[in-house]
Amino acid sequence: MSLLITNIGSLVTNDPALGSGPLGLLTDAAVVVEGSSVSWAGPASAAPAADTSYDAAGRALLPGFVDSHAHLVFAGDRTAEFNARMSGQAYTAGGIRTTVAATRAASDAELAANLTRFVREALRQGTTTIECKSGYGLTVADEARALRIAAEHTPETTYLGAHVVAPEYAEDPAGYVDLVTGEMLDACAPHARWVDVFCEKGAFDGDQARAILTAGIARGLTPRVHANQLSYGPGVQLAVELGAASADHCTHLTDEDVAALASSSTVATLLPGAEFSTRAPYPDARRLLDAGATVALSTDCNPGSSFTSSMAFCIAVAVREMGMTPDEAVLAATLGGAQALRRTDVGRITPGARADLLLLDAPSHVHLAYRPGVPLTAAVWRAGVLEV
Ligand code: NIG
Ligand code: FE
Repeated sequence: MSLLITNIGSLVTNDPALGSGPLGLLTDAAVVVEGSSVSWAGPASAAPAADTSYDAAGRALLPGFVDSHAHLVFAGDRTAEFNARMSGQAYTAGGIRTTVAATRAASDAELAANLTRFVREALRQGTTTIECKSGYGLTVADEARALRIAAEHTPETTYLGAHVVAPEYAEDPAGYVDLVTGEMLDACAPHARWVDVFCEKGAFDGDQARAILTAGIARGLTPRVHANQLSYGPGVQLAVELGAASADHCTHLTDEDVAALASSSTVATLLPGAEFSTRAPYPDARRLLDAGATVALSTDCNPGSSFTSSMAFCIAVAVREMGMTPDEAVLAATLGGAQALRRTDVGRITPGARADLLLLDAPSHVHLAYRPGVPLTAAVWRAGVLEV
């Protein structure tokens, strides 16, 4: 079955060969979907015939969002901690342990139900690809079950046994690194594509992070790093040195860090929800873009530092507070996320791409920043299936 989506007022293809600028923008456009893929995109006047058609009524169509950084296997929430922060308390990595306790106490069914709810919540807001980390179990069995549950929803699963040192190992962090690089890795690697580490004061230092990532690489996982979130540190340089797919957060960067990212294929993934919810200064996207780095935007959805699944919110904040233009922010939330996940089949609307499409209740993608907080989803197709 083929589907012609026509009368698209403004189409973001993310392919400069198909339209104007980096977004490959077309007006009065059409898209043809064959099964789960895009088979054609171009001017409506030149569209080929299809079995069925959908009238976009002059609205904007863009690739579904690619949220390349989320922590969605958990139980409980941290409302009290957020409340305390909004009255002046600082965010620390230690809060993670509150969620670890709640997650360990939850049944498989509860965790699976929570995850299903968050993936659906994200889909309703236009997210068609989502990455999901472990990291709230911190035992061999609890990390492995988190990844098993995550893998039922997404191929983009990330082993984050090195989120913080497990409470049982508080006096023996080296012993915990041995566990993370040994028995826990053995149990988790079959369910994971990526390996991640929180390289930060209060979590893991540069040497520990290197050992953890190197062990993951040896097991066939590809690295990504929570880097330079709360303070300056070695995370970004380590990510670049090890060929990580992305360095995430990038809030505190030296000129050397920016230069390293710009001269590498490591994507700088910015997570404005975290700075919003921890009342921290936002990362400087302008500085990274001007240096030539590839930038992605993601939610970091988690119960501690960023409890939002809204990519539109991240776009709006990135435009208002981080020096990005609306075009740059939309590119970072779609193609940027795909690059951070090393995916070429998502994040663009081009022949051969997966038919992941977001139709906005708006005439232009700019409305994602121009109309902050307004639900603009009109329809969402994932792999050619109308889901919303
Ligand atoms: O990306 N930085 C480390 N991990 C999460 C926070 C997790 C939590 O506070 O529960 C983050 O912000
Ligand atoms: Fe995170």
